[in-house]
Amino acid sequence: MSTIFPKWINTLPPLLLGGAVSTAGLAVAGVWYYATPAFWEVGYMPDQPGGGFNHQIHAGKLGMDCRYCHSHVETSAEANIPPVSTCYGCHSAGKLAKYNESDLHKQKTEFIRTAYATDTSIEWARVHKLPDYVRNFPHHAHVNAGVSCISCHGNIARQPVVWQHESLSMAWCLDCHRAPDKNLVPKDEVTQLFVVEQEMTDPAAMQKRGADLYKERGIASPENCGACHY
Ligand code: HEC
Ligand code: HEC
Ligand code: HEC
Ligand code: HEC
Ligand code: HEC
Repeated sequence: MSTIFPKWINTLPPLLLGGAVSTAGLAVAGVWYYATPAFWEVGYMPDQPGGGFNHQIHAGKLGMDCRYCHSHVETSAEANIPPVSTCYGCHSAGKLAKYNESDLHKQKTEFIRTAYATDTSIEWARVHKLPDYVRNFPHHAHVNAGVSCISCHGNIARQPVVWQHESLSMAWCLDCHRAPDKNLVPKDEVTQLFVVEQEMTDPAAMQKRGADLYKERGIASPENCGACHY
């Protein structure tokens, strides 16, 4: 019987095992790479006070401009979150009847009046967050270059609760920096997400118009490490 299997076969199990280990090693490396936060945070949607601020109602249905609340996006690196007083301007007890006097509406917006009355801020959970070793992300540079919010946040005006639409990985930044043309829009469209969403259905036209805007604006999106890292 022993002649049926040649002697060298004895080394086969270790070989197979070695193969299995390196395959497993690759799989682990792959998972480790692709499962870094940069990848699995797409879709990240933390619990929010009051069930979440509804952009679909405010920016979508009511058509409010992003800058009504995120008033610094054009002038500073950070896109600010509005204070309670901005909400209270519409959701004070006195305005309830004007907007929606249903009990449900009153109940859903009560946390705003409570926060205002007690002079406390609403603790919104941060959704988009770059690691600390990345320099302050400059919103104003992007917005003024004509990159629409939709390119990086998806159509927020369709989101009842904000979630992360893009990976925010370094590769994602660089993909656009190497060829930003197709993401450039006329400046008055930057916050018009439904307009840009419609235009994006014709990528060739977006690319063509973007190429002209690229030249006109003298765009220079950096690829050197120091632009984004300390
Ligand atoms: C009426 C005020 C208001 C308007 C108008 C508004 N937002 Fe917001 N936005 C908020 C508040 C409050 C939050 C914080 C709560 C949250 O993240 O869900 C927020 C959160 C966000 C976030 C996520 C912030 C984070 O933590 O990462 C993005 C992105 C955003 N808004 C983009 C937009 C865009 C784009 C528009 C225009 C289409 C817009 N917003 C219009 C009030 C507003
Ligand atoms: C310009 C006026 C205006 C501002 C500013 C505003 N809202 Fe509203 N909000 C409305 C109106 C109008 C409705 C009712 C829409 C409806 O019934 O269809 C509403 C509805 C709501 C609701 C009820 C949502 C639901 O599911 O029915 C919540 C909660 C709310 N707003 C929170 C906020 C918060 C938080 C802020 C500040 C970040 C804010 N609003 C700023 C006008 C405003
Ligand atoms: C080129 C991509 C890009 C564009 C365009 C862009 N954002 Fe952002 N946004 C980001 C990134 C990246 C972050 C996270 C920044 C960080 O962690 O420092 C962010 C964060 C935010 C936040 C959270 C800020 C905070 O402090 O909690 C808000 C609000 C926001 N963006 C709103 C907007 C609005 C409104 C527009 C359009 C007017 C816009 N963004 C356009 C990439 C972009
Ligand atoms: C959808 C396209 C797009 C994405 C995605 C994008 N950028 Fe940019 N970025 C641009 C463009 C276009 C410019 C050039 C602005 C100019 O020429 O004025 C720019 C410029 C910059 C600048 C230079 C600003 C200045 O003052 O000159 C920095 C820093 C930067 N981006 C960081 C980032 C980081 C970090 C990310 C990823 C988290 C990112 N960008 C993602 C399009 C993009
Ligand atoms: C346009 C902006 C941008 C430029 C240019 C850039 N980076 Fe990054 N880098 C990022 C962002 C955003 C992250 C965080 C997200 C991530 O880990 O992918 C990052 C992450 C990293 C990390 C950590 C990766 C990890 O997975 O932990 C290293 C290392 C790095 N960058 C090195 C570099 C080097 C070296 C260069 C120059 C060749 C460079 N970066 C240029 C934006 C940039």
